[in-house]
Amino acid sequence: MSTLRAAITAVGGYVPEDKLTNQDLEKIIDTTDEWITTRTGIKERRILKDPTKASSDMAVEAIREILNKKQLDPKDIDCIICATVTPDMIFPSTANLIGDKIGAVNAYGFDISAACSGFLYALNLGASLVESGKNKKVIVVGVDKMSAIVDYTDRTTCIIFGDGAGAVLLEPTTEEVGVMDSLLRSDGSGAKHLHMKAGGSLRPASIETVAAKEHYIYQEGKHVFKFAVTGMADISQELLEKNHLTGDDIAWLVPHQANLRIIDATRERINLPKEKVMINIHKYGNTTAGTIPICLWEYEKQLKKGDKLVLAAFGGGFTWGATYIKWAY
Ligand code: UT7
Repeated sequence: MSTLRAAITAVGGYVPEDKLTNQDLEKIIDTTDEWITTRTGIKERRILKDPTKASSDMAVEAIREILNKKQLDPKDIDCIICATVTPDMIFPSTANLIGDKIGAVNAYGFDISAACSGFLYALNLGASLVESGKNKKVIVVGVDKMSAIVDYTDRTTCIIFGDGAGAVLLEPTTEEVGVMDSLLRSDGSGAKHLHMKAGGSLRPASIETVAAKEHYIYQEGKHVFKFAVTGMADISQELLEKNHLTGDDIAWLVPHQANLRIIDATRERINLPKEKVMINIHKYGNTTAGTIPICLWEYEKQLKKGDKLVLAAFGGGFTWGATYIKWAY
């Protein structure tokens, strides 16, 4: 019996129209375009301004693109996995809300909370469901409305984040393509450097938590940067070695877009030229679980069947990982 693999057979994406540029930020905090550009590579981000819209609405836009491209009946979707740290509500899961909005009446679904590595965690879980034969059509969506949890008076964090969604469809294949291998890690001792202080069962929302601004992202940037640089580069290199690959074999590095300097460190570590790295951080900033699928969506036309891709991420948790994919179409 031939091995069943999970192949990405379609991608979709969505970013809101409204832009928040470095020049806009210069007007509201003590910063400069020059500082933001040289420290992060970001020039602008997209913001979902409509107060009636949430993460599920961006995810729905991304998934609808897949449904249209593949002429897929939503009733045929088996499972929806949504990676996000900005769910519409604490419960029910955003995946359930997405399923309802797109009419995926036969699907089950759930959310994955793994911050910037969320899409990789969700992709690997979805792939396992397909490889096992349990499910035939799995939607994996990475989405975050970071503007909902960013303190726009905190110049150390508000410059980084933006809103957006990217989605993929996973289907079974017996060809030598699809999700080939993965390394995923986490270390909860890193939580103290990047978290949201209140709104969970430890510190439920109260007048005090709101007044103390505890419902925003708390990040010690320098610490996170140090762990991210080594974490993302080391795991990418380890994955290549495990699969007897070198940078020469790789067509594309698809890195989480948190900071251009972190991306460069990973690229240098696995010996790739700049042209082989998917980059859109200058346009969208860090959309957390959205970054990797949004990259795939934007670069889709440049991908060829059989291309070897390394997807790599590092983020809150700490969580990190790398996934080796052979492009399927
Ligand atoms: O995706 C989730 C995981 N998150 C990450 O991967 C983020 C990792 N961290 C980073 O990307 C970087 O640490 C930041 C971009 C957040 C910050 O860059 P940095 O080079 O680490 O700057 P820093 O925090 O060491 O700050 C350097 C200086 C400080 O001033 P002093 O103390 O040296 O006088 C800051 O107050 O820059 C100052 N600063 C700013 N100046 C202008 C901090 N933010 C700003 C700002 N504009 N927006």
